[in-house]
Amino acid sequence: MRIQSYATYEEMSKAAARYMAAQLLLKPDSVIGLATGSTPIGMYKELIKMNEAGEIDFSDVVTVNLDEYKGLSADHPQSYRYFMNENLFDHVNVFADNTYLPDGEQVDDAKVCKDYDDIIETVGPIDVQLLGIGHNGHIGFNEPADAFTTGTQCITLDERTLQANARFFDGDMTKVPTKAFTMGIGTIMKAKKILLVVTGKEKTEILDKAMNGPVNPAVPASILQLHPDVMVIVDDAALGK
Ligand code: PGA
Repeated sequence: MRIQSYATYEEMSKAAARYMAAQLLLKPDSVIGLATGSTPIGMYKELIKMNEAGEIDFSDVVTVNLDEYKGLSADHPQSYRYFMNENLFDHVNVFADNTYLPDGEQVDDAKVCKDYDDIIETVGPIDVQLLGIGHNGHIGFNEPADAFTTGTQCITLDERTLQANARFFDGDMTKVPTKAFTMGIGTIMKAKKILLVVTGKEKTEILDKAMNGPVNPAVPASILQLHPDVMVIVDDAALGK
């Protein structure tokens, strides 16, 4: 794991955007694994600026997102499809047909998971997978468990995740969907490169556990210690500075 630390969230977001931009310059038809949550929003804003300035091109890029809430339609303002459209896809020259997320509206969980694995198998391998980290160490929605997941799963969200995500649902934890589809950890680990972005002092403890603690499915992000090419871009607050 390599780690780069920046004084502020803005600086770390710019650094993360430069990393992605470099990937797109080196390989314009990259397959990029994307993430939702608050942390990557600054990076997405920078990528939009670079795209508007003609510095990077998304026309040959394919994206696969980590996860989607079960039961939310694409036009639900809290769905991750909606988030991605609002925060990136609608503002860059990516083709909508080249952007993939698990289908949150399907009722057949096994079919959603199989379809998503098939999509990733077809468009993959993933060149760069972007990740955030949850307060409980989750990556995607792979919550602490007894074993690491392999392919796409329908999982029940942890209480800690429901609490954290309530802020997007009028602060009401009971409004947060309790289930979600997530890319599995096996799939994440098959990405050629991983970019982990972390901000804020409330993540210091879990980041330390993930990077320096034992590799353990109780801290899902700890598996990243075994990946050969992980770049961790953080702000000083996340490092506890
Ligand atoms: P956050 O989410 O960026 O909103 O903190 C990270 C995550 O839960 O993976």
